[in-house]
Amino acid sequence: MIRSVVMGTGSALPARRVSNAELAETVDTSDEWIVERTGIRFRHIAGEGETTATLAADACKAALAAAGIDAQSIDLIVLATATPDQTFPSSATKVQAMLGIDDCVAFDVAAVCSGFLYAVQVVDSMIRSGVAKRALVIGAETFSRILDWEDRTTCVLFGDGAGAIVLEAQDTADADGRGILTTKLHADGRHNELLYVDGGVSTTGTVGKLRMKGREVFRHAVTNLASVMTESLAMAGLGADQVDWVVPHQANARILDATARKLGLAPAKVVVTVDQHANTSAASVPLALDVAVRDGRIQQGQIVILEAMGGGFTWGAAVIRF
Ligand SMILES: CC(C)(COP(=O)(O)OP(=O)(O)OC[C@H]1O[C@@H](n2cnc3c(N)ncnc32)[C@H](O)[C@@H]1OP(=O)(O)O)[C@@H](O)C(=O)NCCC(=O)NCCS
Repeated sequence: MIRSVVMGTGSALPARRVSNAELAETVDTSDEWIVERTGIRFRHIAGEGETTATLAADACKAALAAAGIDAQSIDLIVLATATPDQTFPSSATKVQAMLGIDDCVAFDVAAVCSGFLYAVQVVDSMIRSGVAKRALVIGAETFSRILDWEDRTTCVLFGDGAGAIVLEAQDTADADGRGILTTKLHADGRHNELLYVDGGVSTTGTVGKLRMKGREVFRHAVTNLASVMTESLAMAGLGADQVDWVVPHQANARILDATARKLGLAPAKVVVTVDQHANTSAASVPLALDVAVRDGRIQQGQIVILEAMGGGFTWGAAVIRF
């Protein structure tokens, strides 16, 4: 049996790091409010020349270096984003060109904050069916470019960044039990109006700005995340007590706490980067994963669960023996 094994992780952040205090100079908010309600202290904001694709390419270079894998051997690139460089071509093909890969399959996936989980399931399916052997799975965003900086209820919550993983097809006999064990995705399009962008190519012909009913999103997030984590663990035949690390979508520290509590998971097992990165949408899970791999918390062979929920709504989880 073939499994998709994580060979390396990487991430990239824009150079400019903005504190809550700096934001409060131009937005009617305070460090105290943001920290208390969200846990966020900093976010990175893309500057001139930094785009979703450039951040994604930098994250991929770091992931390939960590894996010790040459870019030319990559046969599939899937990039999750809601903030592509252009309407078309896909940002994935821009990344392909930036990495100097002559030929591969490359496309974008749009599922907003759960985009990375959607991309992981798509790539895992393509690897297990024999279509791809070595893939880059990326979450990359420049949400700062769709924020309404006059709307304090949303603009303080988001940041820019990218994260990537290299997945490789390995026979389970050789992989020592490592690899993606299960993935589970959901969508419920009835909740479109709770979290959306008020523009688009075929409606207004504009890019639009992010709009969110935060309180309602919060309620759905905790319920949906706890339930999809339980589902994906059950599919893997594992209990919550067997999880070594939870790498959640980093939207709000209170959502992370409430979800972990619901599953009876110790807070120490939850990787938290929302304080440093804010909500980077599809980038948040692979960014947090890379932080915890590089600081030595996540070790080979451990059980790691990834989870995310976002606009649509869409939500999902993946269980990996790392
Ligand atoms: C957005 C969120 C942080 C707001 O927290 P909350 O505790 O629900 O706060 P409320 O929206 O009820 O607002 C409380 C008060 O703070 C005020 N407020 C909102 N944003 C503020 C800000 N940046 N600074 C200061 N005050 C602010 C509101 O105006 C409101 O004031 P009022 O009571 O006088 O009307 C929270 O709902 C949340 O995190 N939701 C989920 C968001 C999310 O995860 N989205 C992404 C999913 S992918």
